[in-house]
Amino acid sequence: MSEQNPIPQHVAIIMDGNGRWAELRGKERYEGHAAGVEPVRAALRAAVRRGVKFLTLYAFSTENWGRPEQEVEALMELFCQSVVRETPELVRQGVRVEMIGDRSRFSQKVRGYLGQVEQETAAGETLTLILALNYSSRSEIVRAVRRIAGQVARGGLLPEEIGEETLGRALDTAAYPDPDLIVRTSGECRLSNFLLWQASYAELYFPEVLWPDFTEDEFDRALEEYARRDRRFGLVR
Ligand code: FPP
Repeated sequence: MSEQNPIPQHVAIIMDGNGRWAELRGKERYEGHAAGVEPVRAALRAAVRRGVKFLTLYAFSTENWGRPEQEVEALMELFCQSVVRETPELVRQGVRVEMIGDRSRFSQKVRGYLGQVEQETAAGETLTLILALNYSSRSEIVRAVRRIAGQVARGGLLPEEIGEETLGRALDTAAYPDPDLIVRTSGECRLSNFLLWQASYAELYFPEVLWPDFTEDEFDRALEEYARRDRRFGLVR
């Protein structure tokens, strides 16, 4: 690792390619999602091992509700099962689970499971795992702007007092540093409504690997690539 970018504090991953992985094997799409659970474990293990403090995973976008009902239901079931099954290991590793996105659209059952894993892992100090669920950057920004507009309407804030920090503090990600590195698997080179505000100075990395084939070595490769990048934040060296 270079001296310039040792280890990113915050890595965010768009886990893409589950459907293609399944299709290539003549399987149903949900089987691709099920095969995407082990890579989540692998990414988490690698992140803990490398000293990453925040790992955000794009697990379900606001747009994903438009997928066939059967696939959406299978994903909801997978989230519930996974959080229950993984909680002891998350606690053992010192991983604290939090969420971004608008969870009001999830069923009571799903909200219950998510709330439970948040509670049971709340003491974790090694790494914060942030699950982006029913998340889209534009809707997050709209919700933040509504909050700020409310403050202005109540007379608690003047329009000229609104700065970048005001918006940053109103976003779901207020408690986290911006991502240093955003990885999207499957070779697609776009952000798809993910952390658009927060990605301003993130390094982007698009490996070809499909998410179900993602391993700890792939995570290490992403960190090696990050270490080679020249981050200037709009300044000169
Ligand atoms: C995108 O692949 C992936 C998703 C929409 C779901 C991600 C969910 C998991 C990896 C399940 C495990 C997650 C947790 C947090 C337990 P895609 O279906 O869009 O793939 P495609 O572009 O090849 O169709």
